[in-house]
Amino acid sequence: MNMDFGNNIFVDIQEKPQPINSQIQEKINLYSHNEKAISIGDLGDIISKHKKWKECLPRVEPFYAVKCNDIYPVIRLLADMGLSFDCASKAEIQKILDLGVDPSRIIYANTSKQLSFIKYAADNGVTLMSFDCEDELTKIKKEYPQAKLVLRISPQSNNKVICQLGRKFGCHLSTALKLLQFAKKLEINVIGISFHIGSGCLEAGAFETAIEQSRRVFDIGLSVGFNMHILDIGGGFPGEKNVQTNITFEQIAKAVNLSLDKYFPSNDVRIIAEPGRYYVASAFTISTNIITKKIVTDEENVLPKGDLLDHPTAQNEHLRMYYVNEGIFGSFLPCLIDPGCYVPSHFTNNHEEVLYNSTIWGPTSTAVDLVVDNIKLPDLSTGDWIYFKDVGAYSYTTATNFNSMPRVEEFFTCEKKLWEQVYQHDQC
Ligand SMILES: Cc1ncc(COP(=O)(O)O)c(C=O)c1O
Repeated sequence: MNMDFGNNIFVDIQEKPQPINSQIQEKINLYSHNEKAISIGDLGDIISKHKKWKECLPRVEPFYAVKCNDIYPVIRLLADMGLSFDCASKAEIQKILDLGVDPSRIIYANTSKQLSFIKYAADNGVTLMSFDCEDELTKIKKEYPQAKLVLRISPQSNNKVICQLGRKFGCHLSTALKLLQFAKKLEINVIGISFHIGSGCLEAGAFETAIEQSRRVFDIGLSVGFNMHILDIGGGFPGEKNVQTNITFEQIAKAVNLSLDKYFPSNDVRIIAEPGRYYVASAFTISTNIITKKIVTDEENVLPKGDLLDHPTAQNEHLRMYYVNEGIFGSFLPCLIDPGCYVPSHFTNNHEEVLYNSTIWGPTSTAVDLVVDNIKLPDLSTGDWIYFKDVGAYSYTTATNFNSMPRVEEFFTCEKKLWEQVYQHDQC
C-alpha cells in the first residue's frame, strides 16, 4: 500500500518488510533505465530508533539536528513523533516552523549567527539559542535581548570521536566565568550550558567528562547570579547498524545516565540533546550503478595498497576500478571526512568467488571523488549495482550540484506495525 505523505512523497507501507537487497532489486528492475542512483529510506527504522532513545535515555529530550538529514519525510516524521529540533540557520528554522512545530520546540544551536538570522528567530519566537563568545552576546543583545541562551563549552577530554568540533566551537572552561560575567553585565538571560563531544562518539568517557565539566560551569554560573536549568548534551551518538563501532548507543546511554544522576540529580534541570546521526544513519541505503570498469596493472596503479582481507585472492591480480553514478559531490561526502566509512555490498552470493583489489570512484571529474579505496570485491561488470547501507547521515544535506550530476532517486518504506505506532490506520 502506498501512503501519500505530502510534498509528493509516497511511503510504501509493508505488512512484512522485505530484506533491503530484494527491495533494491525491485527498484532496479523498475527504474534502472533512468541511470540514477537509488536511495531507499526506511521510516520504520527511525520510529524504532526513537523508541529505543526513550527507553535508554528517559531523562533526555531529543532536539533532532536538522543539518544531519533535512529531507521532508524525515523531519515530518520526527515532528509528528513529538521531537524538538536543533536548527543551524534561518532556512532550517523556517523548514521546521513550516511543519507546524511550535517555536518553543526549536533551539538555534549555531554559535555564530548572522544578525538577520537572529532577527528572524526573534520575529518567530525561537527564543532558545547558543553562544560561545562575547561578540555573539553583543549581537544577540542588539537584535534579541529577550533570547534565552545556553553557553556552549568545549569539553576538555582526550576521548576519541570521529569528527572533532571543539577547536571551532565552544568556549574553553577557563573563559566561562568571564563570558557569564559579560552576559550579566548586558542583562542577558543565560539559562543553560551545552556541549558537543564531537560527531561519532567512540568512547563513553567523552560524555562523562563533559557532563562533569558542565556541572562546574553551572556552579560558576551560580556564583555570577545565573541559576541555570538546562543542560544540552549535544550529539555524537552512533546511528549505524552495519558498520562495526567500538561502542554501542546503549553503552553510551548507560554512561550518560550515570553521569547525569551523579552531577545533575535534580529534575529541576531539564536535560536535552541534539542527536543527528543516531536517528537517521541506518535508515538509508543507496544503490549505485557501475558506469565504467577499468582494470589497471600494478605499474599503472599509483594508489598505495591497504591491508588485504582474509579471502582467496587472484594470482597476478590487477586493480579493478569501478566508476559509479554517485560520489562525494553527491550523497557520499562522509567518505571524504571519514575514509572507509561506507562499506559496499553487491548482488553476487558466491562465497567461493575470487576477490580482487578494487577501488570505487564517484562519477565527477575530480580525483578526490573516491568512494572506497582498495577493497576486496568479486569481479563486477559495467551495469552491475553496488549498494551502501548506513548512509542517512550528512549525505543528502551535503550533496552539491558539481558537474550537474543527477540526484539520487528517492523511495520510502515503512513496516505497517511501526507506521501505526505513529499514525492512525489510513492517516498520515
Ligand atoms: C551543534 C550541533 N549539534 C548537533 C549535531 C549533530 O551531531 P551528531 O550527528 O553527531 O549527533 C552537530 C553536528 O555537527 C552539531 O554541530
